[in-house]
Amino acid sequence: MPVIPVPGRQRTWAALTPATAYVFGVESADDTRVVQHYWGPRLPGAALAEVTAGATAWFVTGFHDPADATELLPVDGGRRWGVPSLQAVYPGGVRSVELSFEQAVEHGPGELELVLRDQVHGLRVGLGVRVHDDTDVIERWTEVTNESGEPVHLLRLDSGAWALPEQAGTRYAGVAGAWGRETRLHRGELPVGETTFTSRTGTTSHRANPWIMIGDAGESGGEVWSIALAWSGSWRLTAQRRPEGDVAVTAGFGHDGLTWPLAPGAALRTPPVLGLHTTGGYGAASRAWHAYARGHVLPTPAEERPVLYNSWEATGFDVTEDGQLALARRAAELGVELFVVDDGWFGARTDDTRGLGDWWPNPDRFPQGLGKLFDGVRDLGMRAGLWVEPEMVNPDSDLYREHPDWTLHYPGRRRDTMRNQLVLNFGRDDVRAWALAWLDGLVTEYGLDYLKWDMNRSFSQAGWAEGGDLLWIEHTLGVYAIMDELRARHPGLRIESCSGGGGRADLGILRRTDQVWTSDNTDARDRQAIQEGFSYLYPASTMSCWVTDGPNPVTGREVPLRYRFHVAMAGTLGIGGDLTRWSEEELAEARELVAAYKEVRPVIQHGELRRLTGTPGVTVSAVQYTLGDRVVVLAYNPYKLDERPPRRLRLEGLDPDAVYEDGAGARRHGAALMHHGLTPASWAPFGPDYRSEMVVLRRVQDGS
Ligand code: GLA
Repeated sequence: MPVIPVPGRQRTWAALTPATAYVFGVESADDTRVVQHYWGPRLPGAALAEVTAGATAWFVTGFHDPADATELLPVDGGRRWGVPSLQAVYPGGVRSVELSFEQAVEHGPGELELVLRDQVHGLRVGLGVRVHDDTDVIERWTEVTNESGEPVHLLRLDSGAWALPEQAGTRYAGVAGAWGRETRLHRGELPVGETTFTSRTGTTSHRANPWIMIGDAGESGGEVWSIALAWSGSWRLTAQRRPEGDVAVTAGFGHDGLTWPLAPGAALRTPPVLGLHTTGGYGAASRAWHAYARGHVLPTPAEERPVLYNSWEATGFDVTEDGQLALARRAAELGVELFVVDDGWFGARTDDTRGLGDWWPNPDRFPQGLGKLFDGVRDLGMRAGLWVEPEMVNPDSDLYREHPDWTLHYPGRRRDTMRNQLVLNFGRDDVRAWALAWLDGLVTEYGLDYLKWDMNRSFSQAGWAEGGDLLWIEHTLGVYAIMDELRARHPGLRIESCSGGGGRADLGILRRTDQVWTSDNTDARDRQAIQEGFSYLYPASTMSCWVTDGPNPVTGREVPLRYRFHVAMAGTLGIGGDLTRWSEEELAEARELVAAYKEVRPVIQHGELRRLTGTPGVTVSAVQYTLGDRVVVLAYNPYKLDERPPRRLRLEGLDPDAVYEDGAGARRHGAALMHHGLTPASWAPFGPDYRSEMVVLRRVQDGS
């Protein structure tokens, strides 16, 4: 799909996607503004000019400029009082950024860059807009270049701002959380004022996730406008609902208070901010995001993610060759395909106080290295994976003793530890080179198939003598660069993103990782709520889920094994319990459920997701996955209810005229399944807590 000039209008363009249009241009009365005219359903070519007429000139007083909330990149300068997307301080303390449009540069049919310049201070600003043929997601970015001979300081450089049309209303959805309760769905009314969702931790964070959806919509009906930032460091997304009534969202990397020096000749390019208009409610918005992630973000979208085993909850730091192999034998018997050795295998790391940074096998535990362990894993028919935490160091480590200057720090300030560790500065070339060398060495030596890349603390005292606050950008770019290079050198390598659970899940990290550890909280009931929020943006294949022991080590809650499996089967299934303590019955049940998962895995991991009903983990609920002729429904009933639960579950998105057959051979029409519904056995009244089931249907007869 192209970005085209709007016929009959000067300096006005339309970014066209299969179902939407995004129309913007240089405000004719004033060259200094590029404004958004329209963002919504696709319009016929001849109608494009109509939506650009009289965009901003209808209301001018001495206190308000009507263009304020419609610009693609409102700057801190001139007559503007909204949230600036670009804020700079020029030499002499001059703050007013005054840009004028210079030219539009085409970078291929789907990408346009509008070039603006501050003529006095030599700041070039490029506004990029890109569209694709197969998605309604519009990608935007900003690049600033200091073409003057003097330094400029940037206080804010967002990827771009989006104006919400009036009909979007003021209702929003997003996710927020904390360790152990990430991506909890929040919906509400945007207050009049400025609502900032942000991370100041140096990572995407557990607290919030960089996206927002706005729209007066339900799960399966209504228009939704979504905005997401593809970035894995600190970030800021501000939604402003102004008293005048307009709503705009600006998003970018960094957080309040940072100042980025831009030396003469230097450029800074933002990560992409993505906008998506959809009809069909929040469900359709999620499906469009999942399709975009598969088509344009994930490195290996067509692969099926293997069933993995991870030893962390079973052994903690008590990692030994015999202990791991005992778990590996059990895991292989269950049908596990990838065995991941977690923390505790390296240096002097027998607890979290020492050894982080010393990335060689612990000489007492693995005197001959990890070769024998991984050979054993491979002999059992599984692939081999290893936990690493490259960005961190314990002060009690050889690495820190040798390179204390490699950590984030300010002269004369404390170096506060968290989990007994400090953050290495991945903005530095020497730190990047060190990390790449040992990671590459490990992957090569053991032929590793998989790395779980962890990051277990927030930044503090984040000083960098050479780069200043650019650290907050360069650290993340360093992580990206090393992951990209590792993947280039080892095309078979797959990476899981982890940050104390789900602290680094976003569309930036997913460009170079295959899945994300969703949360350290593996309690099935809590996990349902976490997974619901995760599913708003990210596809099921990226959502790592483990079945762990009962009672759950984090919450103490006892949930039946089958329910735990059914919750974990909603994403990429893994097992994280102490299999040496599981009974024969439990192992047999697990074997059967792993096999059942593998049967339907393509449908769950690559299919279209529908959140059918209920509040996951609280009431009866169900999710549906559809791929080609196959339909998988996971239905849950967490509690013995006082009131009668709904009797029937109505499916969605089926072919109404076609006939579907379940595993027992019973046949139903798509129309009946959608409008009347099926009756989940697990929803019958008067049963025990935590009942669940998987229903598998196949279209056996076309409706035509
Ligand atoms: C983090 C991860 C866990 C585990 C531990 C190891 O908390 O989220 O899964 O890897 O670190 O220390």
